[in-house]
This record gives sequence, structure tokens and C-alpha cells, in this order.
Amino acid sequence: RDCKISVEGLEYRGNISVTVSGKSCQRWDSQTPHQHSYAKRLPGNASEHKNYCRNPSSAGSPWCYTLDPKTRWEHCQIPLCAMDCKISVEGLEYRGNISVTVSGKSCQRWDSQTPHSHGYAERLPGNASEHENYCRNPKPGMEATPWCYTLDPDTRWELCHIPFCVLDCKKTREGMDYRGNKSTTISGKTCQRWDRQSPWTHSYTNVLPGNSSIHENFCRNPRANEADGPWCYTTDPNTRWEFCDIPFCECRDTIKGEEYRGTISHTDRGRECLRWDSPLSPEPSFAFYLEGNLRSHENYCRNPANQGEKPWCFTDPSEKNEEYCNIPMCSQIKYFFYFFVNSNKECLDNIKGQYYFGTVSKTEDGIECQRWDKLQPHDHRFVYGFMGLSASEHENYCRNPDMEEKPWCYTVNDTVRYQYCDIPLCNEKDCKETERGMEYQGKHNMTRGGIACQRWDSTYPHVPNSRISFPGSTLSRQENYCRNPDGGPSPWCYTLNPDVRWQTCDIPFCLNSSFQCDFSGGMCGLEQPNNTGMTWLLNKN
Ligand SMILES: *[C@@H]1O[C@H](CO)[C@@H](O)[C@H](O)[C@H]1NC(C)=O
Ligand SMILES: *[C@@H]1O[C@H](CO)[C@@H](O)[C@H](O)[C@H]1NC(C)=O
Ligand SMILES: *[C@@H]1O[C@H](CO)[C@@H](O)[C@H](O)[C@H]1NC(C)=O
Ligand SMILES: *[C@@H]1O[C@H](CO)[C@@H](O)[C@H](O)[C@H]1NC(C)=O
Ligand SMILES: *[C@@H]1O[C@H](CO)[C@@H](O)[C@H](O)[C@H]1NC(C)=O
Ligand SMILES: *[C@@H]1O[C@H](CO)[C@@H](O)[C@H](O)[C@H]1NC(C)=O
Ligand SMILES: *[C@@H]1O[C@H](CO)[C@@H](O)[C@H](O)[C@H]1NC(C)=O
Ligand SMILES: *[C@@H]1O[C@H](CO)[C@@H](O)[C@H](O)[C@H]1NC(C)=O
Ligand SMILES: *[C@@H]1O[C@H](CO)[C@@H](O)[C@H](O)[C@H]1NC(C)=O
Repeated sequence: RDCKISVEGLEYRGNISVTVSGKSCQRWDSQTPHQHSYAKRLPGNASEHKNYCRNPSSAGSPWCYTLDPKTRWEHCQIPLCAMDCKISVEGLEYRGNISVTVSGKSCQRWDSQTPHSHGYAERLPGNASEHENYCRNPKPGMEATPWCYTLDPDTRWELCHIPFCVLDCKKTREGMDYRGNKSTTISGKTCQRWDRQSPWTHSYTNVLPGNSSIHENFCRNPRANEADGPWCYTTDPNTRWEFCDIPFCECRDTIKGEEYRGTISHTDRGRECLRWDSPLSPEPSFAFYLEGNLRSHENYCRNPANQGEKPWCFTDPSEKNEEYCNIPMCSQIKYFFYFFVNSNKECLDNIKGQYYFGTVSKTEDGIECQRWDKLQPHDHRFVYGFMGLSASEHENYCRNPDMEEKPWCYTVNDTVRYQYCDIPLCNEKDCKETERGMEYQGKHNMTRGGIACQRWDSTYPHVPNSRISFPGSTLSRQENYCRNPDGGPSPWCYTLNPDVRWQTCDIPFCLNSSFQCDFSGGMCGLEQPNNTGMTWLLNKN
């Protein structure tokens, strides 16, 4: 179905190409009728996105430039995929209708402040009213699963029980990812609940992600210690544990699909695959890369040793050409995040870098990062994974899962819990993205009147206002560069001229003026509201 998973629809890859008012969309690789610079902000080759509605600007919802010369751009109406279940443990993507907590209390609306007042309305994507009183997880890393404020004045908030979207199959042989509801073993015995210690006592209660109660008595493989998992303790007093018979998924979880173990055995040209153990195979050596009993792979599409673009097979004994198979992706969300993972960009698309999937693993002071799947030396909640990937897939790379100022990590130094990482912006041009330029991190060091700037950590000739603070960084890292730490109309600096306390700087826009109207429409979402409660002029003095 052509729908978006998130309100923002950053992951949307469907075919809708008309706007809310019915205008046709302009192709992303075209500059007529509207000139723009979004082609390079879309993942991959802009031509592939044709004239489909997309959201490359991290704000609002999918949109497009229109073919009407009088209407530069407009949002598109993309329905939400109706999924009353969660894909990840944390359920950040959950957009279903469940509105009762684990103890059965009704949820308070997110746009209401009674009975409990709170500051979460702005943290939810889009308009808080759209989220009604549904369970949500607005802040990664804070709660392990969706929750809500309750209508009971004595219970401020409570977690909700949201079932996993049941893909009742395993993606790998070990099946650590299995979240289906199968609760009988291969010999038909009923499983024991993971949160119970009878008839069998065990130590797995706290190993499964989240509260073990949510896993009920479903087959699981909590530690990957059983290669043929998932399994469970059984309720039979004579059988401690047994494997469950879980089929492999008929979809691939990664772009290349090395993990695919399903049974599709036709190529995308419709030809039938040769068996991997066939003596007729034109290149039998590939079979060595397939684990286990070769016969078990039959003539199913595979990607041995990850050497192909996606799963493939041989179809003709006389041709050494492998043919690719059309294996669907298991979920759009995974596809979206893997796209970024595979893009492997070692720079930030925007200052917050919440889609940074690069491999920098040292903080700005050069301290090595702690792995996200480890709890030593620092205990934390990201160990369950985030952004659609497991914690181990993030290794010890700098990430920004919780909308901090920029990517960060826990450090291996037990006295430094976490620290930001210094990762350059992809746009290396020294320019500002917004009128006010609060995001500006460039190196202009002269005012618009041509006066040299004073260092931010210096008190000569001007003593800076002590209330001016630079989030996430020390003053010395700002050198004497023009900055806008107080939300003024433009970047500025204190000057080296004793008679001129401060002056604004002339910083060019990154994109040319035809583009700026998009910002006034809130399209880029980088401009921060000045909510300091002080006027910018007072701040400097
Ligand atoms: C988009 O269009 C193509 C070709 O018409 C079709 O095969 C595909 O299923 C469509 N995708 C969606 C999400 O509708
Ligand atoms: C993008 O794809 C189009 C059509 O497939 C091709 O003509 C063009 O060269 C590609 N551009 C880049 C930058 O790869
Ligand atoms: C949520 O409720 C609305 C209105 O009752 C309904 O149309 C929609 O399908 C529901 N969504 C889900 C995911 O159940
Ligand atoms: C949010 O939506 C509600 C109802 O649709 C509307 O009354 C309200 O003005 C909207 N708020 C904002 C900030 O757009
Ligand atoms: C598992 O889920 C399916 C689909 O929601 C349902 O039909 C089935 O009854 C469930 N089985 C158990 C044992 O809960
Ligand atoms: C887990 O959930 C159950 C019921 O939902 C609750 O009684 C229990 O206190 C929870 N345990 C933890 C450690 O949160
Ligand atoms: C940890 O960090 C502290 C404070 O920055 C520093 O004094 C100490 O030497 C560091 N320890 C190690 C083992 O690097
Ligand atoms: C300003 O920056 C330029 C280039 O980075 C540098 O050569 C110059 O010395 C700087 N001027 C001052 C006053 O810091
Ligand atoms: C503005 O951008 C367009 C498209 O990238 C380009 O053709 C044009 O020359 C630019 N104009 C200026 C003044 O830089």
C-alpha cells in the first residue's frame, strides 16, 4: 500500500506525485519551472525519485515543487500506514491507536495539560493534536516502550503494552530478531513464560530487551547462544527447554540480503533456479560460502559471502551469469535506515546529525567511544537499539539518537559519561543555512564593517556577557568566528576595536536567494525559535 510510516515521512518511497491542492509535481532532477538544490539532498540518484513526493528537508511531511510556475512547492497528502503494532522495542515509530496503559488507565491527550501538565507536545512530530491520546514514545532513550500521561490525577504516566508487528518468521538462523507469538516447541510442548521461574528456574528474565513480561511465553533467542533458535523453557516438568519451529522470513532485512534464508527460487526474469548442490552448477565454489547442510539451501535464492548486489542464483548450467531474485524488503523503515548506513557518509547532512551513520568513534577530546551494546563503564538505555538498528550495529560510532546538539557517544573513560564528537558538515562551503544562522559553524572572523573579531574566550577589549553560552562546546572551539549564540538576526562577534563592542557579520547563504522562500515556509526546520525570553540586544551587553 502507498503510505508513510512516520508523520514526517522521511522514509516515504511511494509513487504519489500530486500535492494537497491537486497540482502535479516537478521532477527532482529538473530545474523547471522551479530552480532548487534539493536534488543532492535526496538519497541516491535524484532521477530515481522521479516526481514523487518526498521529504528531503527533515520537516513537516512529504512535499514537492509543483509544475505550476506560480506555486513553488506544496505538501502532499500521504496516508499513514495503519500499523497498530511496533517494529522496534522502543516503538519510536509507533503511530497506532492504543490509548490505555499496562494497568488499564486511559491516556491523557498530548495537546492537553490536564490532569498532568507537561512539555511533550512539541517533542512529537507534527501537530500534537494528531496524536490524540495515543501511546507514544516521543523521546528516544528515555522510555523503553511507548507510554502516556494518564487521566488518573494520582498516576502521572505509565507504559503501554504495544504488541510487536508480527512478522511470524525469523530472519537469521539464530533468530534473535524473532518477535512473533509462537509459544509451542517442535514437539508440541507449551512454553513457560520468561517472567516466571517455574517449573524451570533460569536467569533469562533480564536478558530479553524491555520488560520480560512483554515476551510472554513466546519462543525467543535472548543471547544468540543457540544457533538453531528461537527456543523456550517448557511447561513440561520433564523437559527443561526445546527449540521452536520458526520459518525463515520471505523477505530480506538488508539491501544485499546475505541473511536471506527464505524459499523464493525464481529470478526476477522468472527463471527457475538451479540447486546449489547440483553437479550442473557452473560455479560450485560458491556453495562453500553457504552454512550448514548444502542440501537445505535447495534452489533458493541466496547471496553467498555477500558478493552480489542482492540474493541470486544460477539458472543455466551453460552460463556463468548469476541472475538476481526479487526478494522484498522486510520493512520500509529498515530500508530507510539501511540506506543511510550504506551511504556511509562521513559528514553531517545537518548540524544535529540525527541521520549520521558514519564511523567516527572518538569524542572531540579524543576519548574513545563506548560500544552502544555494552553497559560498561556507563550504564544506559540505548542498549536496546535505536533508529531501526540493534545497538551492536551502531558499534561504538558517534550517533545522535536523542536530538542532542550533535552526534555524541558514551566514552570508555569512566569519569567522562558522554561527550560530543567533532564531525564536519557535508556542505563544506562557509555559509549559513538560515537567515539568523544559529546553526552557522563556519570560519568567518570579520564583521560586516571589516573589523576583526575578538575571541569568545577572551575578555579583551570587551568583557562578554557571561550568559551567552554555546551549546555542547567550549568557547575556545568557537575561536573568533562569527556566531549567533543568542538568537539575534544574524551571526555576530565582539570586535577587537575597543570602541565597537559588537557587530554583525555578512555571511552568505548556502543556497541562493531563489531558495530562501522555502525557509520562510518552515521547510528546512533548522531555524530555532528564540525562546530565551530575552531580546538579543540585551543579551550581548
Ligand atoms: C509504484 O509504481 C510502480 C510502477 O507503476 C509499481 O510497480 C509500484 O508498486 C508502485 N509503488 C507503490 C508503493 O505504489
Ligand atoms: C542518474 O540516473 C540517470 C538515469 O538513470 C542517469 O542518466 C544519470 O547519469 C545519473 N546521474 C548520476 C549522477 O549518477
Ligand atoms: C485509528 O482510529 C481511526 C478512527 O477510529 C481509524 O480510522 C484508524 O484505522 C485507526 N488506526 C489504527 C492503526 O487502528
Ligand atoms: C493542530 O491541529 C488542531 C486541530 O486540527 C488545530 O486546531 C490547531 O490549530 C493545530 N495547531 C497547530 C500549532 O498547528
Ligand atoms: C498470534 O498472532 C496471530 C495474529 O495476530 C493470531 O491469529 C494468533 O491467535 C496468535 N497466537 C497466539 C498463540 O497468541
Ligand atoms: C514488568 O511489567 C509487569 C506487568 O506489566 C509489571 O508488573 C512489572 O513491575 C514490570 N517489571 C519491571 C521491572 O518493570
Ligand atoms: C579520564 O578523564 C579524566 C578527565 O578528563 C582524566 O583526568 C583521566 O586521565 C582520564 N582517564 C583515562 C584512563 O584516560
Ligand atoms: C581570520 O581567518 C583567516 C583565515 O582563516 C586568517 O588568516 C586570519 O588570520 C584570521 N584573522 C583573525 C584576526 O583572526
Ligand atoms: C541559483 O541556483 C541555480 C540552480 O542551482 C543556479 O542556476 C543559479 O545560477 C544560482 N544563482 C546565483 C545567483 O547563484
